[in-house]
Amino acid sequence: LAAMADASGHRRHPTIQEQDDMTANTQRKYRADYQPPAYLIDDVALDFDIRDTGTRVRGQYQVRRNPDAAGAAALQLDGRDMQLHSVAIDGRALGADEYELGEHALVIAAPPSQFSLTIENEIDPEHNLALEGLYRSGDILCTQCEATGFSRITYFPDRPDVMSRYTTRIEADADQYPVLLANGNCVESGDAGAGRHYAVFEDPFAKPCYLFALVAGDLGMIRDSYTTASGREVDLRLYTEHGNEDQCDHAMASLKQAMAWDEDTYGLEYDLDSYVTVAVGSFNMGAMENKGLNVFNTACIFARADTATDGDFALVRDVVAHEYFHNYTGNRVTCRDWFQLSLKEGLTVYREHQFAIDQGSPGVTRIGQVRTIREVQFPEDGGPRAHPVRPESYVEMNNFYTITVYEKGAEVIRMIAQMAGRDAFLRAVRHYLDKHDGQAVTIEDFVVAMEESTGLDLDQFRRWYAQAGTPRLTLTTEFDQNQLRVRLTQSTPATPDQSEKQPFDIPVALAMFDAQGLPVGEPQVLRLNQAEQQWQFDGFDAQPTISALRGFTAPVKLDYPQSDAELARLMAFDSDPVSRWDAAQALYLNTLVADARARGADQPPAAAPQALFDAIESLLATPPDDRALLAEMLTLPSETRIGEQFDATDVFAVNGARRALKQEIARRFTGLFETLRDAHAASGPYVFDVAESGRRRVFALALDYLAAIDAPGIRDHALAVYNDADNMTDRMAALGALRDLTGDARTRAMTDFAERWADYPLVMDKWLRLQASTRRDDAIAQVRALLEDARFDFTNPNRVRALLGGFARGNGEAFHHADGQGYQLLADEILRLDRLNPQLAAALAGLLAPWRRYASPQGTAMREQLTRLAASDLSANTGEIVAAGLA
Ligand code: ARG
Ligand code: ZN
Repeated sequence: LAAMADASGHRRHPTIQEQDDMTANTQRKYRADYQPPAYLIDDVALDFDIRDTGTRVRGQYQVRRNPDAAGAAALQLDGRDMQLHSVAIDGRALGADEYELGEHALVIAAPPSQFSLTIENEIDPEHNLALEGLYRSGDILCTQCEATGFSRITYFPDRPDVMSRYTTRIEADADQYPVLLANGNCVESGDAGAGRHYAVFEDPFAKPCYLFALVAGDLGMIRDSYTTASGREVDLRLYTEHGNEDQCDHAMASLKQAMAWDEDTYGLEYDLDSYVTVAVGSFNMGAMENKGLNVFNTACIFARADTATDGDFALVRDVVAHEYFHNYTGNRVTCRDWFQLSLKEGLTVYREHQFAIDQGSPGVTRIGQVRTIREVQFPEDGGPRAHPVRPESYVEMNNFYTITVYEKGAEVIRMIAQMAGRDAFLRAVRHYLDKHDGQAVTIEDFVVAMEESTGLDLDQFRRWYAQAGTPRLTLTTEFDQNQLRVRLTQSTPATPDQSEKQPFDIPVALAMFDAQGLPVGEPQVLRLNQAEQQWQFDGFDAQPTISALRGFTAPVKLDYPQSDAELARLMAFDSDPVSRWDAAQALYLNTLVADARARGADQPPAAAPQALFDAIESLLATPPDDRALLAEMLTLPSETRIGEQFDATDVFAVNGARRALKQEIARRFTGLFETLRDAHAASGPYVFDVAESGRRRVFALALDYLAAIDAPGIRDHALAVYNDADNMTDRMAALGALRDLTGDARTRAMTDFAERWADYPLVMDKWLRLQASTRRDDAIAQVRALLEDARFDFTNPNRVRALLGGFARGNGEAFHHADGQGYQLLADEILRLDRLNPQLAAALAGLLAPWRRYASPQGTAMREQLTRLAASDLSANTGEIVAAGLA
């Protein structure tokens, strides 16, 4: 696009072919090229005529010239994969020579400055397996428009800065589609003759087209209501395919919790008379915040004690809250363009995180968030797909719904909140929402609003939005004559699009403890904003133990070599649970990294120090009250986290080191783990709360350690747990323990599970995942067999994620086998999937892209498969990922 400017510097009017290329998925789009829309559309009336043979769409738009737009006056309407029937301006049908129709756009060269535009077209939801636009999921027709799915429904400026008020009329067969839904209030409904009926919806809020939604189907429903602080009665409805209603209560309760939390915390009240959620089985992502009509993946709605684990209950609660919070951060104030995605996602994830912290155990909830950053975001930031929280360019927007935009974006907001202080931050968010209500704005607008309200200077801080990569900090200390000097340095490695990095503005929390574990002085937050800085602290009797980056105050990697003894001390008495856990992780990592390095170099394994076992012993002797924290502290760093400590991971050395340490701990503390297990066994019916889910975590952890050494009696014990459990959490704990143990107990539990849950596809995903992640010599043949199994369905993203994701992420030894067959299997399936669902295929390709992070032969074998993919005819989605991997 930048190349479109001619020599005189003026933008000339692009030809239809160029326009087409611009909107075609194969062209790179740049943030710097933003131009306001030439036309605005104030009102949209959509009419859907749903037939078995296809859906007729008639759109009528009130269009006017945008007074803020300069330059070319052509009206560009995005659209693809549909059949155009007619175009009319102010009721007059246009001849084919009065507009240009390309594969991705319809352009009207010089329309009037204000007019009514009518477009009629036809779409084919029955054959839409990309799950974007209007598509079928089981018995339900539903839509997914973010980011640019609306242009698969009708010709329209598919960009978030065109905001309109929508009226939607739906007509369909009354038996097949008794429930008809669209955004806003139902203002009319009735009989349409010939066994058909219709409904008309009006959404009073202007919105971008990505928030449009329509649902038609034969649906079951649960209903509740919520009265807002100012007394508005909100009708809450949750729809799903018949027979699933009894799995929806937790989602409904979570919605009400979220509504109350947003009122209590931000003073934000819901703004329509109804809030409708529809759960569908085929969905590419978790959920979608369409105004007043959320569409959810069933995986983020269904939760019943016997079908869902504690983890699922928490996921449902958090995703329901996330989508609800979008009603303000996303819908009332939306994004100007897709480069600004983190404006709504980073802020909404941050709000979701705070909500989760308020519902659960604060320390452990935060630990989960930190783990996600370290284990998922850091690898993205250090790999071929690294990009800033506000990306500079993209080929396919759907590839940028990333952990960086979402979770790192939330960490950036968290740093602002910390610098401002809680109340000032909440006020600043209110200021931002008031100032920009009803507008489509930028991340810069948000930062300015933060500065205006809090008085903070965020000038340098803005680099967190602009620069990719994870800052590396080193901390060194000098102690003499009662004085402590702390020196911090920062540097950020080059990322694919940015070789030079400027210093970030980084809050680093610090606390100090004496040898008895008593705090020395107040905790501090150092502000590191240069490449190198030094601080002095006076008045010590002895050198204190430092707890640095406490609570993970910034998304950075900290190198601060601490002795095992210091780490054991912090693990025992640091007052911040996140830091206690972090000290335990560092203690384990010291050993794991040394051992993995030795194994990788074919040297004898490195043994764990006595300090590590002593620390575990005292932890077990005086465990924290928060049981989930105990479980976290006894969980070894994941393979990914260990691998992150190396430039190139030797998967087998890392796995070997982790397994060896786990077994060594299990052997030394077998009796204590048995005691722990028995003390934490279920003693009453399932309840999802902090205490009970913490107890279950410790129980599962003890089983897992005992299974790691195939302790005497563990198989029968696990089978008994499986048989007696009244809930899925304990059942999965038992199955997890049995997974890699061959023999009768495993077979019986797995067989029972497959029979018992045969009619519950989401539960069978757990079974698929277990099968795919089982360590066995013929793991690849097993996965290939499951791909042909009737329980698997290639067109359903949840099934694909369970089987292929479960294999590639959960079965390191098979996926990374030196013969490269694991990579080949994945590449085979990516090619097959790319023709049906490019979004999902691209996500899987992301597993092969970071080949440079793996030692050879693995790295080279991954690259071979990438090269093979690159030689095929790929979608823009998958093509972009593969190209990044090979660049
Ligand atoms: N806005 C949704 C959420 O975070 C995600 C939608 C993503 N859709 C997509 N096609 N990438 O709640
Ligand atoms: Zn979101």
